[in-house]
Amino acid sequence: MRDLLSDDREALRLANGEIESMEQPYTTLSERRDLPDDKVIALYSANGWSAAKKPQELLSALRNSHSLVSAWIGEQLVGLGNSLSDGYLVVYYPHLLVLPMYQGRGIGGRIMEHMKLKYRGFHQHILVADGRAVEF
Ligand SMILES: CC(C)(COP(=O)(O)OP(=O)(O)OC[C@H]1O[C@@H](n2cnc3c(N)ncnc32)[C@H](O)[C@@H]1OP(=O)(O)O)[C@@H](O)C(=O)NCCC(=O)NCCS
Repeated sequence: MRDLLSDDREALRLANGEIESMEQPYTTLSERRDLPDDKVIALYSANGWSAAKKPQELLSALRNSHSLVSAWIGEQLVGLGNSLSDGYLVVYYPHLLVLPMYQGRGIGGRIMEHMKLKYRGFHQHILVADGRAVEF
């Protein structure tokens, strides 16, 4: 029998611009550009990234990225990654961060998998790593 509730949820997810349900329960990836300013700043602040101290520049930079992928658990923004690219051969991944309490659950990896799929076939994928995350 058709599950009306889950069909409606799926329609709502698509309407909200969500692009991929992740294996981890309740976590979804989105390419929406209209990220709530306060949630973005909270994510950067929680990770101690200095860009949080330049909110307008940070928000403009993210919106101007070639791709912007965010991870959500319900209404909570739990992770984010962006890319800069020439659109054909080279892609560069400047920002990738996950809320500390959600780190180590596969969210950062899923954001990168999505990016790699999106830019498959490009000759150069350049990831800039924080010193504490070089292995990642
Ligand atoms: C680095 C970060 C984005 C990874 O996201 P995450 O959701 O915690 O990572 P995942 O759970 O998807 O882990 C994916 C893999 O990377 C490894 N990994 C995760 N964080 C790591 C770190 N800081 N250093 C080394 N390896 C790391 C995991 O062990 C896992 O490996 P496995 O697949 O072999 O088990 C996240 O920990 C974070 O936001 N850190 C603070 C900000 C930062 O350093 N950003 C990275 C800039 S390059």
